[in-house]
Amino acid sequence: MNETLIQGAYIVAGLLFILALAGLSKHETAVMGNKYGIVGMAIALAATLWLATKSAGFDALGIIAVAMAIGALIGITLARKVEMTGMPELIAMLHSFVGAAAVIVGWNSSYETSTYPAIHDVEVFVGVFIGAVTLTGSIVAYLKLSAKMKSAPLVLPGRHVVNLGIIIAFVVMTIVYVLVPHENMFLRQLLLGIMTVLALFLGWHLVASIGGGDMPVVVSMLNSYSGWAAAAAGFLLNNDLLIITGALVGSSGAYLSYIMCRAMNRSFISVIAGGFGSDGAVVGEAKDYGEHRETSAVEVADLLKNASDVIITPGYGMATAQAQYAVADLTRKLRDRGVNVRFGIHPVAGRLPGHMNVLLAEAKVPYDIVLEMDEINEDFPSTDAVLVIGANDTVNPAAQDDPTSPIAGMPVLEVWKAREVIVFKRSMNTGYAGVQNPLFFKENSAMLFGDAKDRVEDIVKAL
Ligand code: TAP
Repeated sequence: MNETLIQGAYIVAGLLFILALAGLSKHETAVMGNKYGIVGMAIALAATLWLATKSAGFDALGIIAVAMAIGALIGITLARKVEMTGMPELIAMLHSFVGAAAVIVGWNSSYETSTYPAIHDVEVFVGVFIGAVTLTGSIVAYLKLSAKMKSAPLVLPGRHVVNLGIIIAFVVMTIVYVLVPHENMFLRQLLLGIMTVLALFLGWHLVASIGGGDMPVVVSMLNSYSGWAAAAAGFLLNNDLLIITGALVGSSGAYLSYIMCRAMNRSFISVIAGGFGSDGAVVGEAKDYGEHRETSAVEVADLLKNASDVIITPGYGMATAQAQYAVADLTRKLRDRGVNVRFGIHPVAGRLPGHMNVLLAEAKVPYDIVLEMDEINEDFPSTDAVLVIGANDTVNPAAQDDPTSPIAGMPVLEVWKAREVIVFKRSMNTGYAGVQNPLFFKENSAMLFGDAKDRVEDIVKAL
């Protein structure tokens, strides 16, 4: 009876997780989606605790309570401290914990016996392999995103041969591991140890060989890996919910990576294989595009007073300046004057998927004027003014015009097609990918230098 109830609770939790994912796919339903996820997780935790007391007695609760308290303390401390701009780093770090957990579960399970030893052995090897790749890959992603490691790709000679060699070695060692008798513990542990070291190296190498521009895809790919690592742990622990949840995270992460690759015109296979097919070009050229023009808040206010169609394209700089409230205020003022204001959001603007949408929703910008890149790109030629607020790579025409550019082929917001473009930034510095932006030197572009929040507030005052 108890067993049936636990399985029932797991099915309900699994369904709530599916509803959570469905809810999170749209602004309007995201809050509800989060609530489904919270309730599902509460049910899953309660059922798992019940299961633990059934198999290990009430004493187990004490140990679990201590582990949960430590985990909760770390989680709450990190979540309270983290800035919105630091979320990708935090997520990358949390993925590494999932990878570490899968490695520990795999090693622990390697000492257990099973009715189906061959299947169990394969589960151990696969679980430890995915877990170890996720562990070091996520640590490198964390280091790159937090600028503790250079974001340019590491190009080792014969890097693809090295990656392929490790994967072949993994397959061969798995077969040998299954064939070695269980009594020969030394050889089995040696094989598992060598494979763990190789997988740790592979995770580090795969992410180290990926350039800064592809990091968003890598983070969502690692999200996917962490899901598969959890699913592998679920097989080892015979826990159906962990298998379901892991598969949901694994497949949704893989799909998100695929969508992002399409949005950035990157080959999915190339990114997950550690930059395979790219030439590993190092970013950061200094081309001379001529003179740029500067403007002032008062001039921009005048321009906006006479405009009827305005598009705002926010980027990472809006997040660092925390300019979203000032931008929302400006939007209200302009709409009150009858100006048609809309937002154009690039799929990888900022530093995490949906970054700009979250900020604008926080500042209560109406959802219906916040449009995706594909929905708004054709409207730039008929737009009077574009306000590029702290965006750079996502509005860089070199992606279309310069085949040698490191961001060549990445779809961008075609802001330069509008009548006037105002770029809000503090200097002529490059964006995340480290490439100069010819947009700043176009005749219809003007630079409004300074902190984005201060400048937008100045315009609001001048209106
Ligand atoms: P970026 O290319 O990162 O450029 C942001 C610009 O904001 C910089 O040029 C900077 O210029 C300006 N800025 C910074 N602080 C500012 C402030 N306080 N006030 C005004 N301006 C400020 O931005 P983007 O267009 O959003 O592109 C995102 C980039 O990040 C892409 O290359 C993308 O691939 C990458 N990336 C994205 C993600 C995801 S999932 N979205 C994750 C990781 C990486 P100044 O220094 O001159 O002010």
